[in-house]
Amino acid sequence: MGVAQLITRTVGFPTLRLRRLRMTEQFRKMVAETQLSVDDFIYPLFVCPGEKVKREVRSMPGVYQQSIDNIIRECEEVYKLGIPAVILFGIPERKDEFGSEAYDENGIIQRTVRALKKEIPELVVITDVCLCEYTSHGHCGIVREVAPGKYEIVNDETVELLAKEALTHAEAGADMVAPSDMMDGRVSAIRKILDENGFQNVPIMSYAAKYASGFYGPFREAAESAPKFGDRRSHQMDPANSDEALREIALDIQEGADIVMVKPALAYLDVIYRAKQEFKVPIAAYQVSGEYSMIKAAGLNGWIDEQRIMLETLTAIKRAGADLILTYFAKDAAKVLKGS
Ligand code: PBG
Repeated sequence: MGVAQLITRTVGFPTLRLRRLRMTEQFRKMVAETQLSVDDFIYPLFVCPGEKVKREVRSMPGVYQQSIDNIIRECEEVYKLGIPAVILFGIPERKDEFGSEAYDENGIIQRTVRALKKEIPELVVITDVCLCEYTSHGHCGIVREVAPGKYEIVNDETVELLAKEALTHAEAGADMVAPSDMMDGRVSAIRKILDENGFQNVPIMSYAAKYASGFYGPFREAAESAPKFGDRRSHQMDPANSDEALREIALDIQEGADIVMVKPALAYLDVIYRAKQEFKVPIAAYQVSGEYSMIKAAGLNGWIDEQRIMLETLTAIKRAGADLILTYFAKDAAKVLKGS
C-alpha cells in the first residue's frame, strides 16, 4: 500500500479538507471537540466566623476566608456570572479532638447553608464533609494512639461522625454533600442516614480518587487544616497508581455515590480519562489549590499568560472527560466565557 492510500484509509480526504477550513477562527469553533462551559463549574468558598471578614489567603491570591455576610455577597456575584454551584469549606469557631463543630447544627457550615438557601435559593450549595478543618490535630477523623508516638485514624467511629455531619448539612438545606475524607464505607453510611431521614433526593458527590498530593498545600493554609503530626498517606492514594483509582471509584459507585471525583486534576488527566471511559456516571475533577496558586504566581510574575493557561488547563480537564470542574478560577473563567 502506498503512502497516499494509507492516508486515505486512516484519515480520509474529507478530514484533510476539513483541516484547511479549520484555519478560520469561526470554523475552528464549530468543529472544536471540547467546549468549556460555565455550567460545568463549581466554585469553592471558605467560610469563617465573625462579621465583615474578608481575609485573602496568602498563598492563593484572589481567594478569601469570609464571614457569612460576605459569603452571601460573593455568592450573589457567583450566581449572576452563571456559575451554578458552590462548595463550602468551614473554618470553625473552635476545634477539638473530635471535630465537634463539624456535626453541630449551629456550626459554621450549617449556619451558612441556611443563610444561602434563604437568600439565593437557586444557587446549588454543596458541602464538603470532612473532619480535618474541625479537629485540633488536623486529621480527617478520630485519632487513637496505638503505640507510644504511633497514631491511627479510627475508621468506623469516624464514619459515624461523618454521617452525622452530612445529615446536619442536609437538614440545613444543602443540595448535595461531598465526603472528602477517604474513610472506608463512608458513602454507604451517609446514603443510609440521609435516606432514613427523608433526604433521598440529596445526592452524594464523593471524592473517590483522592491522591496524597503536594498540590493541597495552599488549601491547608486557606482551611487551616494542616495535620499537626504525620500525614494523610494512610487513607489517600499513591500518585503512582491508577488501577487503584478505578477500584476506589467502583466501590464508591456501589456504595451509592452519584458523582465521583478525581483530585487533583491536571497531574491526573489519565485517571479522569480512564474513569470516564470505564464508568458512565458524572465525573468531577478538582483543580486544587496548588494548581491554582502555581498559575497565579507565574502569571503575577509575568512569566506566563495567566488567562490563556487558565483556559488551556480547564479545557484539558474537560477534554480528558470531566463533566464538572471544581476550580478557584470559576469566576475568572466565567467572565472570559461570557465575553466571548
Ligand atoms: C479535605 C479536603 C482537602 C481539599 C479538599 N478537601 C485537603 C486535604 O485533603 O488535605 C484540598 C483542596 C485543595 O487543595 O484545593 N477536607
